[in-house]
Amino acid sequence: MIETAEVLERTGGTELRRIVYPERKIASRVSEMGQEITEVYPEDEPLLLVGLLKGSFIFMADLVREIRRPAQVDFLVASSYGSAMTSSGDVQLLYDPEAELADKHVVLIEDIIDSGTTMNRLVPLFRDRGPRSLEICALLHKHIAADLVLEPRWVGFDAPGEFLIGYGLDHSEDFRNLPFIASL
Ligand code: IMP
Ligand code: MG
Repeated sequence: MIETAEVLERTGGTELRRIVYPERKIASRVSEMGQEITEVYPEDEPLLLVGLLKGSFIFMADLVREIRRPAQVDFLVASSYGSAMTSSGDVQLLYDPEAELADKHVVLIEDIIDSGTTMNRLVPLFRDRGPRSLEICALLHKHIAADLVLEPRWVGFDAPGEFLIGYGLDHSEDFRNLPFIASL
């Protein structure tokens, strides 16, 4: 259990089980990912990064600054609520990127791949719009998804099967602002 004064101050008194990825570890991995993405695409071909809100907002902000080539940024909002709290597989787009995808190399930026439902719905939708190429970049991958229609080309960390919070990841909208990733 982590119950340092600083953590308790940040969580409003909620104790965390453990810090899974500390700030510095995330920063160095995100920097590597940015370099890898920089090297893959020809400099003169347009690159568009599409972040899935809200979870990817911090990852996206850090990642794009490690990409040392021209790039455009957009976001989308998808919800995957069914009638209950469980992920129903019914993914709805609440905000759709305005950007034209044809001719562009598109990278979907996701915070964490869990069941894979979200990505399995989004990938065909994006493919239909005729991007020059389509890849997934996920900070975390739990590797429990049975069949992903597209395996992420870039994965920050192979995540443990625990519920993770911080660095954009939430539990009922809380804890997104933690600078590290912890398990509840
Ligand atoms: P999937 O569709 O099951 O792959 O779920 C992906 C989404 O579920 C992510 O974008 C997160 O918003 C959420 N999610 C899955 N696992 C976790 C977790 O451990 N902590 C916080 N959010 C999670
Ligand atoms: Mg999310």
